[in-house]
Amino acid sequence: MTLIDVQVRRKHFVARSREPVLADIAFQLAAGELVGLVGASGCGKSTLLRIVAGLDPDYDGQVLLNGRRQRGPSRDIGVVFQEPRLFPWLTVAENVAFDLGQGRDEAWANTLLAEVGLKGLENALPKQLSGGQAQRVAIARALYTRPRLLLLDEPFSALDAFTRMKLQDLVLSLAQAHQAGLLLVTHDVEEAVLLSDRVFVLGAAPGRVLRELTVPLRHPRQRGSAAVADLRADLLRTLESAVV
Ligand SMILES: Nc1ncnc2c1ncn2[C@@H]1O[C@H](COP(=O)(O)OP(=O)(O)O)[C@@H](O)[C@H]1O
Ligand SMILES: [Mg+2]
Repeated sequence: MTLIDVQVRRKHFVARSREPVLADIAFQLAAGELVGLVGASGCGKSTLLRIVAGLDPDYDGQVLLNGRRQRGPSRDIGVVFQEPRLFPWLTVAENVAFDLGQGRDEAWANTLLAEVGLKGLENALPKQLSGGQAQRVAIARALYTRPRLLLLDEPFSALDAFTRMKLQDLVLSLAQAHQAGLLLVTHDVEEAVLLSDRVFVLGAAPGRVLRELTVPLRHPRQRGSAAVADLRADLLRTLESAVV
């Protein structure tokens, strides 16, 4: 069943500029699907993700969520950015349960915090957390509204390699446990292969989908295995050929 249908015919930041930032992008995600989005820096990945999130209405096209036109952010979509973006004056649990106008479900926030491995830190303040812990809070917050889809914009790129691996595994198991799909923007091609069942390669100027690759490997996948390395090399070749 199609969860989200994305069509971006044109996206400009500067009115009447000749070169659009995004052009002729069309794809659908089924419920629970794990999809990666890779592409060179500046090719429009974050712009596309913001459109899908309902955070940028200024484009030519449409995003259908459950068959209905998306107008603004939705409780069905949770977003995790590269930086945790926590409110420094709120506790960890208050950050997770930050949900405008909906009242606070503390028990649910605490359940999510336990799931992301932060039991006992509910009343801590963001400044007391490591980078990895802060990003765990951001992941718990994204799950708070029980979304059907998580959008992640290079969520691990500011973290050290070991923390990144732990969080990649965590996001994958949470997506499965919460039956949420993933649309994961990353410039780490191995990460895309490890987490996604389909990978879109975006080209630049204008940003568009150059290629869609299916990852025919079962989860959990072995880091550094020959199959992962082959797919990674394949994707890197596509990315290289896209750079002119
Ligand atoms: N708010 C903005 N105003 C003008 N140009 C922007 C804005 N945001 C992004 N851009 C431009 O759009 C292009 C795509 O940016 P972005 O989506 O951030 O790329 P990526 O996430 O792939 O690195 C870049 O050329 C960038 O400079
Ligand atoms: Mg970006």
